[in-house]
Amino acid sequence: MKAQYPLLFVFFVILISSNKAVMGQDITFQGGELSTDIPGSNAIQAPAPNLPMGPTRVKQVEGFGPFHRINRRRDGLGPLYVNNSCGGCHVNNGKGSVRYKKAPRLNAIVIKVALHERQENGAPTNIPGVGDLLQDRVLSRRNKTRFKRTGIRWKRVRFTYPDGTVVKLRKPKLRVRISGIGYSEVATSLRMTPGIVGPGLLESIPEETVLSWSDPEDSNADGISGRPQYVYDGESEGFLLGRFGFRASQPTVRHQSAGAAAGEMGLTTSLFNNSDKAPEISDSDLEKLTLYQMLASVPTARNQTDTTVKRGKQLFQLAGCHNCHKFGIQTSNVEHSELDGQLIHPFTDLLLHDMGEGLADTRAEFSASGAEWKTTPLWGTGFLKTISHVRQHYLHDGRARTLEEAILWHGGEAQSSKMEFTNLSARDRAALISFLESL
Ligand code: HEC
Ligand code: HEC
Repeated sequence: MKAQYPLLFVFFVILISSNKAVMGQDITFQGGELSTDIPGSNAIQAPAPNLPMGPTRVKQVEGFGPFHRINRRRDGLGPLYVNNSCGGCHVNNGKGSVRYKKAPRLNAIVIKVALHERQENGAPTNIPGVGDLLQDRVLSRRNKTRFKRTGIRWKRVRFTYPDGTVVKLRKPKLRVRISGIGYSEVATSLRMTPGIVGPGLLESIPEETVLSWSDPEDSNADGISGRPQYVYDGESEGFLLGRFGFRASQPTVRHQSAGAAAGEMGLTTSLFNNSDKAPEISDSDLEKLTLYQMLASVPTARNQTDTTVKRGKQLFQLAGCHNCHKFGIQTSNVEHSELDGQLIHPFTDLLLHDMGEGLADTRAEFSASGAEWKTTPLWGTGFLKTISHVRQHYLHDGRARTLEEAILWHGGEAQSSKMEFTNLSARDRAALISFLESL
């Protein structure tokens, strides 16, 4: 019996010291050697500081063109589309605006749609005559779509903290009219435009690392399972780990970009081209577009020695936020040495989590149900405000107008973590939020 005590003691020492290692880790250089502290609106467009002069750097710089170019008819835009440039949604590569009330158009908002029955490989089934998202702009009146109209209404919800403080939350209710199809037959998912921070590094997190965090049966009984997303890739005719988009349904930056070109702008690429004509975005432009994003700078975290921020960082971990929003990750990349062997702090595990009914919608994608979302990376959370004029919103549909609202919508696997947050004093809650703002 006695012999077990020293063992238990050793176990505790390891537990405490490993916890300390996480607590004390300096996360200023969130993007490893790609981190920049350049202020200003082009901070996350500029080439990463560790990208040497040479042809790759030239391509990164030239990728600005296809990303920010306003596409017109002669570029192949449309005939149906949502916006005419990547940068029109991703303002200075950051988030897009969420203006549901006055905007006559979707602009930077995407409404993904599908039929409820999925394809054999798990992909959502497109609605004939509409596609996989609603394109509300047309080049000319002759362009026909079955999509008629969309309406968003807000349901108000009140949240009361144990200390009596009340926060007013809102939840969107979406109604999409497509001719010949009943409301209930259309699966929908509302998305705001996220910021593009460090996607090259996210793509360089080894698959084994992501899988090592997954615990589908919750064998460690912490209430958090986390499942990898696997998506079908027509190019390799196999399944790849999904990393991008709120349901992680794109495996690489190249796929995500080609997908956006097709869906959001109606531009073909060699990846998505159902005509026999040459792609409207050439392979060389697609490569530049991809490198532009992958090898761009990542903002450094600020104010890490500030007492409140330090307290907030501690509370972030005490509340278990870091069980999903992970940091201290080592990257690996054989193609780009700049992305290889970096110690990064993206605050994501790239896994899908059931976040509860409050955040759920009806459009399942591959491995993800309508209640599952990829852990949103938190690097850049405070920084993104400084690079674009748009008011920041949070969560996949932009319902949250503050970081506090975003946390209060956490449910499902994140329920106990959310409770930890709500049980904090008002001062400690503010400290935790100031840590998020420092990222
Ligand atoms: C109409 C607005 C719109 C346009 C235009 C647009 N995007 Fe996006 N972008 C989005 C939305 C919405 C998402 C989230 C998609 C999802 O959840 O599946 C997204 C996601 C992304 C992501 C993944 C970010 C992450 O970390 O998950 C990348 C990368 C990206 N877009 C690049 C591009 C590129 C490159 C273009 C131009 C070829 C482009 N986008 C055009 C709205 C847009
Ligand atoms: C079980 C995993 C999990 C835990 C634990 C968790 N989160 Fe999240 N978090 C997510 C997922 C998944 C999303 C995306 C949800 C969505 O968009 O609908 C998210 C989104 C967010 C966002 C919104 C980011 C944005 O830009 O839209 C913030 C802020 C956030 N989490 C903070 C926290 C904090 C603070 C804690 C601890 C109190 C926490 N999270 C705990 C999984 C988790």
